[in-house]
Amino acid sequence: MEPPGTPVCPAGPPNPMRAPAPQVHTGRGVRVPPRWRKEVERVLITDRQIAGRIREMSRDIARDYAGREMVVVALLTGTVMFLADLIRNLSLPLRLDFMGVSSYGAGTESGDLVFTKELRLGVRGRDVLLVDDILDTGKTLNRVLGKLRALKPRRIKTCVLLNKAARRVEAIEADYVGFEIPDFFVVGYGLDFAERYRNLPFVGVLHPHVYKSGCQRIIPVRRAKAGARDKG
Ligand code: PRP
Repeated sequence: MEPPGTPVCPAGPPNPMRAPAPQVHTGRGVRVPPRWRKEVERVLITDRQIAGRIREMSRDIARDYAGREMVVVALLTGTVMFLADLIRNLSLPLRLDFMGVSSYGAGTESGDLVFTKELRLGVRGRDVLLVDDILDTGKTLNRVLGKLRALKPRRIKTCVLLNKAARRVEAIEADYVGFEIPDFFVVGYGLDFAERYRNLPFVGVLHPHVYKSGCQRIIPVRRAKAGARDKG
């Protein structure tokens, strides 16, 4: 794990039409609500910061998709809060669908991706916006993009709330990024550890004692993927 404040790699070539995503460091000075203080080390991004940034992202997306009916494809489950806040800020005609993709499944090696829900809507010739909560190694987005491209949409753009560039394995960057974050184990605002903490209204850094404790033994199928977020 990188020490607090360590800069992360840039997220690819800057888009001259768009301001770069804010780089989040430590979130010092914002107190963790008492209920979560034992499990969450600190608030990395507040609910107000998230709301403000989503309004900016929505403006960029609305400009880029003006005049088109978009299909928003969201990946389950971590996108739940981000997606809801993003699309309520998008004053565009859109259709919404979900894909399920996960790193667990019967008979798979840990880290293998399994599709748990397929698309219901047709995307052929459509303008697709693929939404995920976090771009980490890039394996998930890479795999999903491959699957979507085979369906021959007119174009696909990708949108993530968080970009953890320091952990990238695949050569992939998102078109719209909410925040650049260091290599911390983050939870909240949809992101989980062992299916918990998705309901936090902020993005926080999990105390190492939580993911190094017996909690991992409760739901072992989640351990490999969740634990991988902490490795440098
Ligand atoms: C998380 C997250 C992203 C993916 C990013 O999904 O929601 O989809 O990992 O990681 P990557 O860039 O290294 O592939 P997870 O499988 O934990 O499912 P979840 O959304 O249900 O939490």
